[in-house]
Amino acid sequence: MIENTCQITPAERVRGNITLPGDKSISHRALIFAAIARGKSKIRYLNTGVDVLSTIACLQKVGVHFQLGRYTVNVKSPGLHGWTGEDKTAFNCGNSGTTTRLLAGLLPGQSFESVLYGDESLSRRPMGRIIEPLSKMNALFNSTDGHLPLTIFPSKLKGIRYTLPVASAQVKSAILLAGLLAEGKTHVTEPVQCRDHTERMMKMLGIPIFKKKNTWTVHALKRPIPGFEYNVPADPSSAAFWVAAALLLHKSRIVLSNVSLNPTRIAFLRLLQKAGADIRCSEETRSHEPYGDIVVKSSELQGFSISSRNIPGLIDEIPILALIATQAKGMTRIRGARELRVKESDRIATTVACLKTLGAEIEEHEDGMTIHGPTPLHGGTVKAYMDHRIAMTMAIAGLIASDPVNIEDYSVVDISYPDFFSTLEKIRQ
Ligand code: S3P
Repeated sequence: MIENTCQITPAERVRGNITLPGDKSISHRALIFAAIARGKSKIRYLNTGVDVLSTIACLQKVGVHFQLGRYTVNVKSPGLHGWTGEDKTAFNCGNSGTTTRLLAGLLPGQSFESVLYGDESLSRRPMGRIIEPLSKMNALFNSTDGHLPLTIFPSKLKGIRYTLPVASAQVKSAILLAGLLAEGKTHVTEPVQCRDHTERMMKMLGIPIFKKKNTWTVHALKRPIPGFEYNVPADPSSAAFWVAAALLLHKSRIVLSNVSLNPTRIAFLRLLQKAGADIRCSEETRSHEPYGDIVVKSSELQGFSISSRNIPGLIDEIPILALIATQAKGMTRIRGARELRVKESDRIATTVACLKTLGAEIEEHEDGMTIHGPTPLHGGTVKAYMDHRIAMTMAIAGLIASDPVNIEDYSVVDISYPDFFSTLEKIRQ
């Protein structure tokens, strides 16, 4: 086997109870708000993938202290108005778009100059979408054609009214966070709702944020917020891979505990239920993010349709939904998904290329794909394209294909799910 290539062999079924990693989006935000708060915070069940570690490394640069245990991270911060940095402080955001875009909202209002940079994949991703609204707030940037590295100069921010041209939680969050250091009110209107973890966390911490119709309004942070304790629910986007395995392999049953059931994140579960999936959720709301258990059993599925207004609610689940569609009866159409082209990889091109290699009947469109099923998949060798969600989708393809699937650069799963392959070995039969 070539170095950094793994082989996934076909499985008969998957069974068991799965402990998932903490939600990645919520983990980034819990750390960022612990750095905004003044004093000590404690975060439990943090996602410890490489992306979240990038956020920790960046926040250490502004004087925030972290003590990382197995399940708990203790944070001690001087608070948003006490962040310190050397001149031209360099922040390595690695592969993480969320780290980059959320910090780009908080750094312009600081008194030091910063430079955000990242790996090859992150350096290809568009930053114009944050530069444009934040510049309207008086932030001063220097970038290479809207890409990293991004230099951020200290500036005096002012509030704005802004309507998001792309449905992006990262952009929405960057503006709302910048609003904490801006003079006057900051209003962000989202034509299509996308994940709302930043807003929920602001409310939980008593930060003045209000919603009227589809517009969020935030005021500058006048008083320091105190440290807090927070339990991160499990990641529904990581759950999606095991949901797919259980649905597609006969006589399978899996249980996923304490998964975030935030409605802005689980559109894929609702879509699959409509397509015939036996998925049951028991919801418990014990915190500011709803969460509960999910039980999934093998199911016969029908093809489904996804259009632009559904995309934000299942943006990260499209590659695994495309794999599921290869085994569903009839045609699946995914359109209005152009945003996928600017993720960790061009996920329209990479999903189509990988599934075609394994024998799927799939056509690429500029803004999506059409899949005809059911088509048995054969084995083959596929690339992960530096994209954790493509690597995990291909691992599930390996379980359901007739022959082994070799995945090049499989270790990219560490970005969001370091225990992915050991979990796979535990539940496969
Ligand atoms: C994220 C938002 C989404 C998602 C990404 C995480 C977040 O990106 O794809 O994995 O944590 O806010 P966009 O907001 O750019 O759509």
